[in-house]
Amino acid sequence: MTTAIPAPGMHILEAAGEVHVPDQQLSAGELRRECSSGDVDVVVAQLTDVFDRAVLEDATIKGISNYAVGYDNVDVATATGRGILVGNTPGVLTDATADIAMLLLLATARRCVEADRFVRAGKYQGWQPELLLGSDVSGATLGLVGFGRIARATAERALGFGMTVRYTARSGPVPAERLGHLAGRVQFAEWDDLVRTSDFISLHVPLSDTTHHLVDEKTLRAMKPTACLVNTSRGPVVDEKALVEALRSGEIAGAGLDVYEDEPALADGLADLPNTTLLPHVGSATRSVRATMAEVCANNAVAMARGEMPAHAVNP
Ligand code: DGY
Repeated sequence: MTTAIPAPGMHILEAAGEVHVPDQQLSAGELRRECSSGDVDVVVAQLTDVFDRAVLEDATIKGISNYAVGYDNVDVATATGRGILVGNTPGVLTDATADIAMLLLLATARRCVEADRFVRAGKYQGWQPELLLGSDVSGATLGLVGFGRIARATAERALGFGMTVRYTARSGPVPAERLGHLAGRVQFAEWDDLVRTSDFISLHVPLSDTTHHLVDEKTLRAMKPTACLVNTSRGPVVDEKALVEALRSGEIAGAGLDVYEDEPALADGLADLPNTTLLPHVGSATRSVRATMAEVCANNAVAMARGEMPAHAVNP
């Protein structure tokens, strides 16, 4: 393991075999040595551990069990080529992450962080007609980028708040029979149209070469000046420098972010902008979700160590 995971997962792993947890985060060189030592069957990894070609090229491990649904930290093509399975934890963090997307949307629209600071600074002197005015959520249009599990759960929440929900996806419109009870309640839009017309845009795509800087200077310029951007997916989907400029110049109205381009660092100036809500990558951070992720991740690891197919493997 590169780091310990919550107890339910540790119990499964310890009951199944020998578990080693280092005292501190492994460097790339140490990770590479461990993976090619011949002593390790499976690595239980965090999204902060990078398994690139250099780490994987001499690897003798059977699998990497990622403690996350995202797996952009692993070069899956190289892993697959070397017969290394890659596991993840889909499904169990969908609602928790959609809650955080909605929280960021609401908090940014209604200037929650600014308002909280205002009260704590002792500046509140009573109700005023124009104190800390924000923007309406009910009646506004939410544009979802990507339409997987978390986007759909965010759609459910947004519909509950009286929003119009549209989505864009590279694969095109989802046939009505695969939309379940969202059929007729959400509409597909082409990317340009969605960017131009949404009051809120929420990102729900995995990080890949195609989605890196999907939201760039051009996209930000095309958004409404009153629009807010929400990102609970992966930081590099947004060009964070361009975002700071767009927020500074009023090209867009606000941003709610749970993820950053170069975590844990923030782009220069981001933390000084009042029109942002900034969280430390806590989309899945509820006690029960993290415990369930630990179980899924541990079960994946045990299956891989035994030479079986895990419940969740992302290799093609
Ligand atoms: C994931 O699972 O990919 C999240 O980013 C962390 O839970």
